[in-house]
Amino acid sequence: MSIRPLVIIPDSKLRLTSEPVKDITDEIRRLADDMLDTMYDAPGVGLAAIQIGVPVRMVTMDVSKTDDERQPLVLINPEILWTSEERRVYEEGCLSIPEYYEEVERPDRVRFRYMNLQGETVEQDADGLMATCVQHEIDHLNGVLFIDYLSKLKRDRVMTKFKKAAKREAGA
Ligand code: NI
Repeated sequence: MSIRPLVIIPDSKLRLTSEPVKDITDEIRRLADDMLDTMYDAPGVGLAAIQIGVPVRMVTMDVSKTDDERQPLVLINPEILWTSEERRVYEEGCLSIPEYYEEVERPDRVRFRYMNLQGETVEQDADGLMATCVQHEIDHLNGVLFIDYLSKLKRDRVMTKFKKAAKREAGA
């Protein structure tokens, strides 16, 4: 188990479409462990594999409120099956866009399907923070970021800020 470095915008890896997981191998189990470690360390409520640079369709989540009652979820090949017409606004953030938060409107409730680490197919309903988180993380598997839902002005502003920071870090 280890904490892995996070991929931050404007890294183009974040725009990749991730590949489905075919078999639950030791490598996949190790990846799940590392994703959970990295997510809890950040700390964050959700992480997609591509955020640590691995382009496979895997997500970890924990929307429980307290540290002593962890409810880790590992979603393999997750898919949204249904979304409600009612929508809700949540202030979202992303471990790949550190310290940036904006309100995003999404469907309020979702039904989703995934495979767990035991290889069982699970169907689950979610609302509130969990519904937002599932949609946000599945977006990552398709190369979509929450800033894509903002106005072009806001998106350009945050991209410029992070591009400058990346340049500074590269010593350019
Ligand atoms: Ni994110």
